[in-house]
Amino acid sequence: IDPSIDLIAEIQRLKKEKNAVILAHYYQESEIQDIADYIGDSLGLSQQAAKTEADVILFAGVHFMAETAKILSPEKKVLLPDLKAGCSLSDSCPPHLFAKFKEQYPDHLVITYVNCTAELKALSDIVCTSSNAVQIVESLPKDQKIIFGPDRNLGAYVKKKTGRDLVLWNGACMVHEIFSQDRINGLRAEYPTAKFIAHPECEDHILAQADYIGSTSGMLKYTIENSADTFIVATESGILHQMQKASPSKTFIPAPPNNLCACNDCPHMKLNTLEKLYNCLHYELPEVVLPADVIQRAQKPIERMLEISE
Ligand code: 13P
Ligand code: SF4
Repeated sequence: IDPSIDLIAEIQRLKKEKNAVILAHYYQESEIQDIADYIGDSLGLSQQAAKTEADVILFAGVHFMAETAKILSPEKKVLLPDLKAGCSLSDSCPPHLFAKFKEQYPDHLVITYVNCTAELKALSDIVCTSSNAVQIVESLPKDQKIIFGPDRNLGAYVKKKTGRDLVLWNGACMVHEIFSQDRINGLRAEYPTAKFIAHPECEDHILAQADYIGSTSGMLKYTIENSADTFIVATESGILHQMQKASPSKTFIPAPPNNLCACNDCPHMKLNTLEKLYNCLHYELPEVVLPADVIQRAQKPIERMLEISE
C-alpha cells in the first residue's frame, strides 16, 4: 500500500461506494473500533448482521463471527480482513468429534455458544452468546436434558446460575484462562475501592471473586452505571477503549495475566489492521462463503436464539 494513502478516508469512501457496513467486535484495535458503523458484543453484532440493509458486511472480528453474519444474511457479501483470524475456543470443538459426543446423549437438546464453527451450529438446537446463555437455558422446561458446548467455563457458570445439570464439552478460550488470581488479589489490595469485573469465559476461581460477571457489552454497561472510580477488567483488553471513552474520568486496569503471558490480547482478534480492512474493502476479498446446506441447518438455531433474546 502507498504509505501516503489516508486509510481512514479511503475506507470511508469505499464504504459509501459499495454500500458496505463495518461491524466491529469490542476486542478490535481502537482505530478499527473508531471507524466502525457498529461496535458490539457477539449478540449485538449478529442482530446487526441480521437487519442491515447494506450490500456488503465488512466484519472486523474473527471467522466464526463473520460466518454467523453470512448465515443470517446469506444474500450479502461478507468480508473478513484476515481469514486466519480464528478462535481457540472454536478450535477446541471439532464438529466431527462433537457429533460423536452428541450421539452419546440422544435425548439431550444441544445448546452451542456462538464461538464455534458454522458446522457446529448446524449440529445444534439453539445457539447462545455470553449475554443470553442463562436466559436461553431458563427458557427451556426444567426437566429438559441439555448438552452445552464448547466453553466449559461459560457452561459451568450457566450451571451454577440456573441450577441445571448441563453436560459440558471440554473447551476453553486461551485469553480467558490466563488470569492470575494472586496478581488480581494484589491489585485489589492496591486499589481497595476498585470493582473487579469478569467475562464468564473466565475460570470459576476467577469468577468467584468478581463484583460483576457479564458479556463485553454487559461489562461496559456496568462500568457506565456503577459509581466506582476504578475497575479491574478480566477479559480481552480491547474493551477498555470503549470503557475509557464512555467514562473518561474513571480508571480501567486490565486484570493481570499469569507470568507466562505479556498481556490479555487475543492474537486472533488482533490480526485485523486498518490496512487489511482497506485492502479487503477495495478487492472485496477475502470473502466468507459457506455451503448452502450448512447455512440452512445453522440458521434455525441462531434464529431461535434471536427470537428468545428479542
Ligand atoms: P462477547 O462479546 O459476546 O462477550 O464475547 C466475547 C468473546 O470472547 C468473543 O470472542
Ligand atoms: Fe476466541 Fe477467546 Fe479470541 Fe474470543 S477472545 S476470539 S473466544 S480466542
